[in-house]
Amino acid sequence: MEKQQQNILPVGVFDSGVGGISVLRELVRLMPGEDYLFFGDSANAPYGVRSREEIRDLTLGHVRRMVDQGIKAIVIACNTATSAAISDLREVYTDMPVIGIEPALKPAVMTASHPKVLVLATPGTVAGEKFQHLVHGFEEQADIRAVPCPGLMEFVENGQMDSPELNAYLENRLAQYRKDRPDAVVLGCTHYPFIKKAIRQALGGDCLILDGGEGTARETRRRLEAAGLRNPRENGGRVVFEMSLPGKEALCHQLLNAEHTGVNEYDHRPPYAQQIQ
Ligand code: DGL
Repeated sequence: MEKQQQNILPVGVFDSGVGGISVLRELVRLMPGEDYLFFGDSANAPYGVRSREEIRDLTLGHVRRMVDQGIKAIVIACNTATSAAISDLREVYTDMPVIGIEPALKPAVMTASHPKVLVLATPGTVAGEKFQHLVHGFEEQADIRAVPCPGLMEFVENGQMDSPELNAYLENRLAQYRKDRPDAVVLGCTHYPFIKKAIRQALGGDCLILDGGEGTARETRRRLEAAGLRNPRENGGRVVFEMSLPGKEALCHQLLNAEHTGVNEYDHRPPYAQQIQ
């Protein structure tokens, strides 16, 4: 395919559900002229409690289908799927930019000298080799605690960004860190930026909370530019949502905050279902 034809294709953005929209909104802010095809596998979520093989197979299958639909790059807007599948994806798609997200540990470690850093992520991400390796690299410069949060992404999937049940969950998980407050908190799951307020409150107020959305968007722009794949249009990009579960349309719109990010056209494709046992 000619470069001019290729650079007008959408950027694919993949997550296990609606969480990846926290990365999509940063992509749209940074590159409003690009088109985006967002796929969220809510029917098979949560990925964070599945085996590495299951997560890898689901991710490879969905990305294959997105590539067949026509995308010029893929952003894995899911820490759990990045951890389980990014190396396989890079082996398969050698000619296409493949961008993954990982917990923003580096900026967190740089916030103070030997800071206390708390990382909130799915059990899959915390147990994964990739995360262990990342932590190992910063171990001497910071006191890093990882808190696996099974069940937390479900609040966002269900549109519960502010509820007594969510506050009770967070209280139970995070109250112990209130006295010895961390210098920085890393949101290592793309669903969590949508509940940042509740997380901050559970930690007792004032604390620095970081996520990898903006960094991933910047890396995507860099990779598209390096490959000569930027859409020459400066504005007016279009977002297409395709979810594997019906009934997510209003939530997708709410999370993208279309008015705020300046998306002037968005659409929903009928749900694509792929269930595994
Ligand atoms: N949003 C995904 C992440 O960033 C995970 C949620 C899930 O468990 O499916 O890790």
